[in-house]
Parts: sequence; structure tokens; C-alpha cells
Amino acid sequence: MRCAVFGTGYLGATHAACMAELGHDVLGVDVDAGKIAKLESGEVPFYEPGLAEMLRRNLEAGRLTFTTSYEDAAAFADVHFICVGTPQKQGEYAADLSHVDAVVDALSPLLTEPALIVGKSTVPVGTAVDLVERVRAAAPADVELVWNPEFLREGFAVQDTLSPDRLVCGVERKGEGRGEAILRDVYATLIDRGVPFLVTELATAELAKSSANAFLATKISFINAIAEVCEVAGADAVELADILGHDDRIGRRFLDSGLGFGGGCLPKDIRALMARAGELGANQALHFLREVDSINMRRRTRMVELTRQACGARSSARESRCSEPRSNRDPTTSATPRHSTSPGNCNSRVRR
Ligand SMILES: NC(=O)c1ccc[n+]([C@@H]2O[C@H](COP(=O)([O-])OP(=O)(O)OC[C@H]3O[C@@H](n4cnc5c(N)ncnc54)[C@H](O)[C@@H]3O)[C@@H](O)[C@H]2O)c1
Repeated sequence: MRCAVFGTGYLGATHAACMAELGHDVLGVDVDAGKIAKLESGEVPFYEPGLAEMLRRNLEAGRLTFTTSYEDAAAFADVHFICVGTPQKQGEYAADLSHVDAVVDALSPLLTEPALIVGKSTVPVGTAVDLVERVRAAAPADVELVWNPEFLREGFAVQDTLSPDRLVCGVERKGEGRGEAILRDVYATLIDRGVPFLVTELATAELAKSSANAFLATKISFINAIAEVCEVAGADAVELADILGHDDRIGRRFLDSGLGFGGGCLPKDIRALMARAGELGANQALHFLREVDSINMRRRTRMVELTRQACGARSSARESRCSEPRSNRDPTTSATPRHSTSPGNCNSRVRR
């Protein structure tokens, strides 16, 4: 199939290369000409194991090309993936959808042949239904829109794209339209290998992604909150997580106490979910996510405190050792005294 991928950042560059790897002809599109030039020359502007090799292999095979031209993309592809960013709005919890809107508004009027638009960016529930109307109003041809949220993990992006746990296809109305069939064709190789292909309505598909991230964030903040209690109770948070993890209902993954979650997705996604729930009148339902967020923010402050304590203790220990007469030093060890390397009785060791 002929696919265009709008937005060639982390998600889009990976998706474009992986779709080419699956045998599709792919055109990556971005407004950032510098990024496009790098990708065209086989350079990946971020670290992702295996991606550069896959990018070069598919560039050389002629299955993957890049452009900044929407006109070229509209003329080239039957399937158009939206992979642009949805950052947190300045000074608000809500997601900034201006990049998604910009793709839809610029692309739709150029689609003179039947086509499918596939949203992959993480968007608040209700976004896709609005976009369906925008596409319908602006596209000269019959153009459908489905939502196919992306669950890849940075550092495992290639593996997660080519061997996902599941593929989700959100459609306007189940059993109607061509969108589901076209997306099944796009992912036929994966579906044949047994990857579950789950068809649902647009709102469920959007919420599936937001709630997956909310759950993962909650799990991380849960263990970090327990680690706070471990610190004051003299318990070992790592051993405790191991003990909890043996319970299949809980599981050991995402139970590593430490710095908390960060990166480009979890913090903005839980805030966007809270904001959207509030707009829908369900803000009470997600009050707990405020606490998840604040436990997480506390970890950073705590980590700085611990580092300061460790450095302070270590430098004062060194100063006192230096000022001691040589004969008074313990000849059996050159290590820093034990109390200064285990500041604040911290049992919440980082294991990631
Ligand atoms: N990074 C991840 O691990 C990950 C995983 C799952 C889902 N997501 C979601 O995918 C989306 C993209 O995330 P990302 O990390 O790839 O973002 P990113 O910032 O790395 O990339 C976004 C790209 O979109 C381009 N862009 C902006 N406006 C454009 C336009 N009008 N036309 C074409 N290109 C345009 C930017 O120049 C940039 O290259 C977000 O919604 C994010 O939440 C990301």
C-alpha cells in the first residue's frame, strides 16, 4: 500500500520506517525541513535501537522517501497516518491539538481521490469525532478517518511497532465503512502473525491510550508512595516490590521505586485526561490522578535532597579525613564511611 506519515518525530519516523519494513511504499512528511534532510540521509535524530539500520535499508530499497510537501503526500498515498505531537498547552493541563488540526486542515482539501486518514497521535477523547466532520467538510473525495492509538515504548519502538501487544482500530460506527478493512490490509503481516486487532468506536480507542498511560503512571506513583512509607518505617521498598510482584494480579513491572515517571508522554497524558474529564463533567472521577502527579513531582525534589545530603556528607567526611592526622585514619578501608553513602535511610533504590 502507499502510506504517508505526517510528523516524523519519535513516533512518525519509527512508524514510517516500520511500515516500509512491512513492504509498504511510505512517504514521511514534516514541516521541519532540517529533520527531513537528516532522515533522507539515513540519520535518525534521536536514539532508538535498530531504527537507523531499518531506515537506511528501506531508503536504499526505495520504499521510503521524505518530503515537506503536503501536495506530494496527498497525490502519493491512499492511507495517511497522523503522527504529530500533542504537547501540554502552556499554563494549562489540556492537550494542544493545533498540530493535529493543522495536518487535517491542510491535507483534507488536497484529497481528490478516496483515502483513509489514520490518527495515531495521543488525543483527548472526543477529538476524532470532531475531525471526522472537518475532513468531511473539506475533502473533495470520500475520505474516512479511523483512530489507531500507539502504545510503543521509547527504547523499544521498533520492536513494539512490529510486534505490538494489540492493534486498536477506532471507527465512527462499527461494521460500516472501509476504514477497518483498509487498516487490516496495512497491518496484514502482523495480524497473520497473531497480533490481536481490536475494533471499537472512536471514543473507546482514544480513551484506551489515555487510560493505559494513566494506569502505568498510577502504578509508578503507587510504589513511590509506598517507598515513602518504607523510608520512615525502615522497610525495603525493593524487596517489598519483589514480594508484591509475585502476585499475578499485581505483577512486578512498573513497580520500581525511584525518580518517578517523566519523558514526553505520561505527565502530559495524565494531565490531558484530567482536563478532558473535567470538560465532560467527570472531573471527580480522576481526582486521584492529581495525587499520582504530585507523588511523582515529589520524587524529583526528594532525589535532589538525597543527592545534596550524599554530596554534603561525603565532602564533609573527606574534609574531616583530610584534616585528620594520617595515623588516625582507618587503614583497613579507603571507602567513605557507611553513614554518608546511605543518606536518609533511603530504601527506595532505583532499579530501572
Ligand atoms: N514518543 C513516544 O514514545 C510516543 C508513544 C506513543 C504515542 N506518542 C504520541 O505520538 C504523538 C507524537 O509524539 P512524538 O514523540 O513523535 O512527537 P515529536 O515531537 O517527536 O514529533 C512530532 C513531529 O511532528 C512534526 N510536525 C508538527 N506539526 C506538523 C505538521 N503540521 N505537519 C507535519 N509535521 C508536523 C514536528 O516537526 C515533529 O517532527 C504524540 O501525540 C505522542 O503523545 C508518542
